[in-house]
Amino acid sequence: MIATESDTTAGPCGTQRFIQALGGALSPGAVVRSGEPMARHTTLRVGGPAEAWVEPADEADLGATLRLAREHAVPVLLLGRGSNLLVRDGGVRGVVVHLGQEAFARVTVEGSLIRCGAGARLKAVAVEARRHALAGLEFLEGIPGSVGGALRMNAGAHGGAICDVLVEVRLMDLGGKARVVPAAELRAEYRSCPLLRDHVAIQAVVRGTPDESAAIERRMQSFNERRWASQPAAPSAGCVFKNPAAIPAGKLVDELGMKGTCVGGARVSDEHGNFIVTGPGATSADVLALIARIRERALDERGIRLETEVQIVGEEA
Ligand code: EPU
Repeated sequence: MIATESDTTAGPCGTQRFIQALGGALSPGAVVRSGEPMARHTTLRVGGPAEAWVEPADEADLGATLRLAREHAVPVLLLGRGSNLLVRDGGVRGVVVHLGQEAFARVTVEGSLIRCGAGARLKAVAVEARRHALAGLEFLEGIPGSVGGALRMNAGAHGGAICDVLVEVRLMDLGGKARVVPAAELRAEYRSCPLLRDHVAIQAVVRGTPDESAAIERRMQSFNERRWASQPAAPSAGCVFKNPAAIPAGKLVDELGMKGTCVGGARVSDEHGNFIVTGPGATSADVLALIARIRERALDERGIRLETEVQIVGEEA
């Protein structure tokens, strides 16, 4: 996910003019909508509408969308599978771009290299790696995200993180120009990849290591079992907080006795303290209030400043 905002951003009229301009610039396969509810596109199932919503059909559409957004001073937010995103109830100003179409979702294997579109599901990458007897990508299996979102967040699980297996990324700048960048130049950190704050990942090449399919399958299954044993199935955005150095955030929330704490339709998961789950009628404001309450208790009682891992975007209602 990237979010951009210039000093002077377009108001709703500017965004409408941008939507009109898109009409003449994109291919017939592109999807353009206004007022798209973000609750439909986030795993937390909360969040107000996006002023504009674009699903480019190909790279040329994506380039045109980014160029026009810049011309009209319309802020751009890239959305993967919305699995690490909290959109405020007032929705998103500007355009939300989603690389959900086929052109961005391909996963192909060449030797031990796996080329994946930014819109591909991480699970699809793990499954394709297993099919070609390539190990090292098993940890991606249970992360409910897309390749693009995972790169932006340097997503990880079970000791692995996507930038550790990365060879190169094809990305686009906000002027619509694409280039290939080797992994080392991305300067990825724990749950962050700074270059992707103002670039859009289009495609990644990751490296697998040849191994027996059965061994790969066993590891995938064991990760899967560990995840379902410790993490909730209810709607969530995964871990809410980054793990502080002193203690894993989930353990801290657990020790504070906050599991099961509710605000409106949001609740601290009983399964894992670093997850907030939502039920019917939940709002982003409920989730944010719960986050604030946890942070306050962590600071007051343990002197620990919790930092959110979930990306929080959008306007107050
Ligand atoms: N723990 C508790 N109580 C809880 C939760 C955890 O005592 O309610 C303890 C566990 O028993 C364990 C320790 O805290 O000793 C760490 O917990 P866990 O193994 O579940 O890992 P985590 O650090 O909470 C990280 C990632 C997860 C990833 C898992 C599995 C972060 C912030 N979280 O969680 O990623 O799925 O490891 O590898 O790095 C995410 O990024 O959204 C995410 C969920």
